[in-house]
This record gives sequence, C-alpha cells and structure tokens, in this order.
Amino acid sequence: MLPLNIIEFIHNLFEIHLKDGDVALDATAGNGNDTLHLAKCVGENGLVWAFDIQQQAVNITLKKLVKSQLDTRVKIILDNHDKISQYIENKIDAAIFNLGYLPCGDKKCTTLVHSSLSALKQSLNLLKINGLIAVVVYPGHDAGLIECNAIEQFVSNIKQQDIDILRYRFANRPDNAPYALVFNKLRDCIF
Ligand SMILES: C[S@@+](CC[C@H](N)C(=O)[O-])C[C@H]1O[C@@H](n2cnc3c(N)ncnc32)[C@H](O)[C@@H]1O
Repeated sequence: MLPLNIIEFIHNLFEIHLKDGDVALDATAGNGNDTLHLAKCVGENGLVWAFDIQQQAVNITLKKLVKSQLDTRVKIILDNHDKISQYIENKIDAAIFNLGYLPCGDKKCTTLVHSSLSALKQSLNLLKINGLIAVVVYPGHDAGLIECNAIEQFVSNIKQQDIDILRYRFANRPDNAPYALVFNKLRDCIF
C-alpha cells in the first residue's frame, strides 16, 4: 500500500533522501518513532541528534533505540530545541519537526511558536544544500494554530530560489487537520 498517512509519507521521503553516514535531526523526539526511523536511515556510520524538553520523552526514545540496538547512532538531548546550534556544529542532511504535544502525555507541554521558529531557522542554517526538513503542524489545537500560522507567515517570505517548500495535506479533511511542510534547500541562505 502507498504511504498516504502524513508521517509515513515523510518517513518515506527520508528513506529515499538519507544514506549511510548522513547526519539528521529530530527536533521533537516524543515517543521516539521519528528518531528511530532516522537512525535506520542514516546507517551504521550516521548520526541522529534528538531533542526533547521532557524527561519522559527522552526515556521512551532511548528505550526504543536500545531495543532496536540503534542507540549508538543517536545523541539524545534533554533540552529546548531552540538551543540546537549550541550543540550541533556540523552541517545536517535532514531534520524533522513533529510539533505539538506528546501523545498520551501532558497536553500543556506543547511546542510553542517562538522556540519552534527559532529552531527551524537554526536548522535551515545548518542544513546542507539539497537537504530536507519536514515540519508537521497541528492546527487543530489553540497553540498549534498559532504556531502553524506563524510558520506559514515565515514560509511565505522565503525566496523560491533559496528553498523549495511543498505543502502535503489531505484534500478532503477539515482545514485544521495536521499537515506537513517540506523544505528542500537549493542554495546557501541565512535566517
Ligand atoms: C508530537 S510530539 C513528537 C512526536 C515524536 N517525534 C514521535 O515520533 O513520537 C512533540 C514533542 O515535542 C516536545 N517539545 C515541546 N516543546 C519542545 C521544545 N521547545 N524543544 C524540544 N522538544 C519540545 C514535547 O515534549 C513532545 O514530546
């Protein structure tokens, strides 16, 4: 079956894009599903940076990686993703921002517009030319809608010569259903 679900579609893109030895970032580790997928995609010589502000998310992610014997490829950081450039010095090949709150966790601990935008800009600066960033937004809850609108505003000001940005969303679901923005960097640009 074709991977039509938004997360499966993004995972598929990373599978095609990433190769052994690449460096990827998961800006919101959460339950570790995206981190685990990136760890598989970067191969045994690759590296994944995974950030989350919740100890619970770090624990779940680490457990999942250890179970799959992929923990040695991942650096899990218990910190705000708006500090990523304090940790990551080298360029990255891909990143995922799966925004919102931890499913089955504290819904008040959600990503917020200021830190998400800051982290996204830092990631775009760290991204190699031809690199990919996927941002999954959740406009169905209050903070998610504010965040989504701010990201759309930011995106509308990015030159098409700098970055190709595609929107992947359901055509027959309400406007507030989750969707993804995928960034493909075409040339050097600073945010
Ligand atoms: C939708 S979940 C991520 C799902 C996850 N990628 C997965 O595969 O299960 C969003 C996560 O973002 C985390 N988060 C919220 N604000 C953050 C911040 N400023 N920096 C890093 N993580 C943050 C939350 O703790 C939560 O675990």
